[in-house]
Amino acid sequence: MLNFSFQNPTRVHFGENQMHVIAKEIPKDAKVLLAYGGGSIKGNGVYDQVVAALSEHTFFEFSGIEPNPSYDTLMKAQSIISQENVDYILAVGGGSVVDGAKFIAAAALFEGDEPWDILSKGASFTQALPIGAVLTLPATGSESNGNSVVTRNGDKLSFSSPIVRPEFAVLDPSVTLSLSDRQISNGVVDAFVHVMEQYLTYSVNGKVQDRFSEGLLQTLIEDGPKALNAPTKDDLDVRANIMWSATMALNGLIGAGVPGDWSTHMIGHELTGEFGIDHARTLSIVLPAVMKVQRTQKQGKLVQYAERVWGLTEGDDEARIDQAIAKTEAFFQQMGVPTRLSDIDLGESDIDTLVNRLEQHGMTALGEHGDITLDVSRKILQQAV
Ligand code: NZQ
Ligand code: ZN
Repeated sequence: MLNFSFQNPTRVHFGENQMHVIAKEIPKDAKVLLAYGGGSIKGNGVYDQVVAALSEHTFFEFSGIEPNPSYDTLMKAQSIISQENVDYILAVGGGSVVDGAKFIAAAALFEGDEPWDILSKGASFTQALPIGAVLTLPATGSESNGNSVVTRNGDKLSFSSPIVRPEFAVLDPSVTLSLSDRQISNGVVDAFVHVMEQYLTYSVNGKVQDRFSEGLLQTLIEDGPKALNAPTKDDLDVRANIMWSATMALNGLIGAGVPGDWSTHMIGHELTGEFGIDHARTLSIVLPAVMKVQRTQKQGKLVQYAERVWGLTEGDDEARIDQAIAKTEAFFQQMGVPTRLSDIDLGESDIDTLVNRLEQHGMTALGEHGDITLDVSRKILQQAV
């Protein structure tokens, strides 16, 4: 196992009827910015519950944070923050809203030239407004990690800092009942690929991390399809298992002490930045191709994945790997997400653009070995056609 330091201080309040904890979590004298997206929280009762919990607080609203939040939208929050002396951000929504809140919180106290530098130049910052999160879409893990992804003019860039990790997160599985099938699928697949990015590398004999990861993958494989189909669709236990899996997939625990890949995500971000494809739908296209192109480097873990996650024990290693990749693709298809560029009407002629974008963003040595050069990324995209 590799050396690591691990701390996750986000207090998670999980389950139904937990919204009232917001009143105690946020200091009474705080001036709160309630940040949300396009209005789903008004249709499913979440907004009303949050406003009731904030009845004794002074709060202001900032809405309209879009999926793949844009820098220009997020910067509009700065004027309310300075005019009203906002000193706490409450994010209510999916990963885009929580990510957006993190950027807003860091930008508010940023002392450098332009907050975009945090994303484009990795500019460091030492303070940010405190954040709380009410999660409505289990997928990203953003509710208890320090990551944020922001887009500007097609550049989809990320930053990570423990300073913007939410202080608390409310996770009520019942609020996910209003999700569309598309968003349920996106969430399950994003969480699945988060585990794979931290698991499907090379063995460092991290038994705890491996077995946690395998448990999360199996839970998502078992319960993901149940959330799409009657009679289990509205089963709160199913929703709870998906929600907790998504949090655990990217809260730092399974990634501590093991190598990480993240090439699927980095290539996927270019597909979103350039063509606006939903985040998870880029991952379901890229991951199978990464598994195929990097199968030699990932051989040991692929065999372990085949046996422990899918129960594949027949045939030699190569045959098991083939079957495991096929099972992964079939799972994605069962979840209703694309597995080929052609499924989203892209093809060979789009690959140059994507590879150029990777180059512009410095993504020239991806993967757990840093051996996914631009040429290898090109092969991966060709494999995904
Ligand atoms: O905006 P509203 O009206 O709220 O609607 C949203 C949005 O249209 C809707 N939605 C959310 N909760 C709902 C709901 N609709 C009905 N009922 C509910 N309970 O779902 C749509 C998508 O929301 P979004 O927040 O964009 O989805 P997701 O949570 O998948 O977040 C995706 C973003 O997170 C980034 C992605 O790149 C993307 O920008 N990621 C963040 C990560 C992190 N912070 O660690 C890691 C991930 O790999 C990812 O990159
Ligand atoms: Zn992701």
